[in-house]
Amino acid sequence: MTRKILVTSALPYANGAIHLGHLVEYIQTDIWVRFQKMQPREKVSECWYVCADDTHGTPIMLRAEKDGITPEALIERVHGEHARDFAGFHVAFDNFYTTHSDETRACANEIYARLKQAGLIEKRTIEQYYDPVKQMFLPDRFIKGECPKCGAKDQYGDNCENCGAAYTPNDLKEPYSAISGATPELRNSDHYFFKLSDPSCQSFLRRWTRESGRLQAEAANKMQEWLGFDENEGENKLTDWDISRDAPYFGFEIPDAPGKYFYVWLDAPIGYMGSFRNLCDRRGIDFDDYWKPDSTTELYHFIGKDILYFHALFWPAELEHAAFRTPTGIFAHGFLTVDGAKMSKSRGTFITAESYLQTGLNPEWLRYYYAAKLNSTMEDIDLNLEDFTARVNSDLIGKYVNIASRCAGFISKKFDGRLAEVQTSPSAAWLQPLREAAASIAGAYEEREFGRALREVMSLADAANVVVNERKPWDLAKQQGRESELHAACSQAIEAFRLLTLYLKPVLPKLAEAVEAFLGIAPLTWSDAAVALAAGHTINAYSHLMTRIDPKQIAALVEANKESLAPAPEAAAQKHAEKQENAATVAVAQAAAEPHISIDDFMKVDLRIARIVDAGHVEGTEKLIRLALDIGEEKPRQVFAGIKSAYDPAQLVGRLTVMVANLAPRKMKFGMSEGMVLAASGAADGNTPGIFLLAPDAGAVPGMRVK
Ligand code: MSP
Ligand code: ZN
Repeated sequence: MTRKILVTSALPYANGAIHLGHLVEYIQTDIWVRFQKMQPREKVSECWYVCADDTHGTPIMLRAEKDGITPEALIERVHGEHARDFAGFHVAFDNFYTTHSDETRACANEIYARLKQAGLIEKRTIEQYYDPVKQMFLPDRFIKGECPKCGAKDQYGDNCENCGAAYTPNDLKEPYSAISGATPELRNSDHYFFKLSDPSCQSFLRRWTRESGRLQAEAANKMQEWLGFDENEGENKLTDWDISRDAPYFGFEIPDAPGKYFYVWLDAPIGYMGSFRNLCDRRGIDFDDYWKPDSTTELYHFIGKDILYFHALFWPAELEHAAFRTPTGIFAHGFLTVDGAKMSKSRGTFITAESYLQTGLNPEWLRYYYAAKLNSTMEDIDLNLEDFTARVNSDLIGKYVNIASRCAGFISKKFDGRLAEVQTSPSAAWLQPLREAAASIAGAYEEREFGRALREVMSLADAANVVVNERKPWDLAKQQGRESELHAACSQAIEAFRLLTLYLKPVLPKLAEAVEAFLGIAPLTWSDAAVALAAGHTINAYSHLMTRIDPKQIAALVEANKESLAPAPEAAAQKHAEKQENAATVAVAQAAAEPHISIDDFMKVDLRIARIVDAGHVEGTEKLIRLALDIGEEKPRQVFAGIKSAYDPAQLVGRLTVMVANLAPRKMKFGMSEGMVLAASGAADGNTPGIFLLAPDAGAVPGMRVK
């Protein structure tokens, strides 16, 4: 039976830039999809790859507000940036859509209606913190206060960074809103729950998560943990899932529930359907064929391990009880580290996709390196920058490209570009293992064992280089009467190169395209392994296919990603708050710095020379100093600055510095903060980190614009 396959990658949040961590997933998925698309149509008749931006939720709403634009404008801008970055890394979605679409809304409403009909939606009143200044209910991550265990101040609503205790926001002492600084009030609100604790969900999930192929072994174990091990004792650890949020919220309003919105994680996976629906409508694909309960098509979700809970519990349970098919398999990957550590802005290893491309690095280098490191498990993968350079240069240039660069010239110069007979020639017997490897390499790709596939390809490249080294075409070329040996040696090397290109094509699609042009052949597909190029086939002149990585390029990349401005305490809190409100997710926090902004963007920041006319301690904080700043206005501005570790308030009074004068005022626990002062932070080599307030040269006076 021919396979029809629908593949997705997780939907990136629409409030941050794509970075090298994200790319692990999109490159992994893209390689797998490209491999499927190279299969003969009798085997795989259709393979579709869809994705979208994940556009809803509180962080996106607040981020837009902070930028002074509508959420719609924000998500549209980010969509353009994401699409550009993915294209830059040759990630070839069949559709890159948005969850903020009619299709997704329709699918969400339908699933919700069906779950309701199945008796799995329940309305309940819950008590929740409400920000009276901002006039909204606060997600856990937006509430701060004193740790109930150790008393540490300014801790988030879910756990303490000081002592590690986990708790709920209601346990916090002296809670305050991370958005406005106001003291939150407990208020009642009606919420809608998906009854995951229902026995039907429980028994379905127990069965489903154990079915072969659905989950990786590690993931299946996690599920057991989440479901509760003692099923015979009737243990059920699943609790109902709150799928609604109160206005103001950027998302889809729940039908018949004015002022209530679907929680972003309800409509996000449905965004897979929405994106596919949109593709179907444009391309005449049968949507129901892929989503009906007894569908024979295959559905795979590639995701990071941080969002397993959503994909392996909530999502299949929703689909099953809304009478849709469930995923054939969920493929979770691990997290990216750079040089053995979490990506870091201060070390310059929080690398954006855009900066990588703008620094002039070849995206296929990264695709190759990731592929070489990827397997089918959830293990983390490390981008070691030195190893990256060494590996790419040795494998791709030293082993693979080298074969063509050493042999192609002779074919052009001495034989008019024509190849000798290869398929039946006895001296070409060494190519047989290369040809036969097609099956095992295909097996490795299919199983997402990309590292294994590439190890096999490289050992075949080694074997080809051994043959070329033995036959020494460069010597043969100097000897009279050995033309046919030279012709055979070079033609066979070119054939080996063609086979290696075919095997590398899912990983290196652009390079493969260049090779296809050089060889004068149609786009390579997996069945092309069987038959050599015919005698007399003409190839084109060889031109250089890929350059080596210069370590200087890597140094430049790291430099370009080093963050220099010290975030003010308010900015840091906001950044932390931008993190996905659900603790199960990790990544979005860092809305990465854009490598370029326009002058207009810069001019939006009203920077002024400020005189510190007063400075004092702030009761109850170890970090902040209260500043009164004269910028030539009627009365000084009050600003709370996180510089207490470096300055004594007394020593600040009277000096000049630079402030952001048009930052939206923020109500903090201690009062209004009406701007931000600028300071550098970090450590010179070997020193402990410090904070360094900026100061103008002599002559500047309070109120002068800085630009
Ligand atoms: N919006 C959700 C996914 C919704 S899917 C219905 C989300 N977005 S994300 O932008 O934070 O992450 C998108 C994908 O990138 C996730 O699968 C996540 O695991 C992956 N990664 C983000 N950072 C990563 C690393 N540092 N390393 C590897 N993958 C990472 O989660
Ligand atoms: Zn604590």
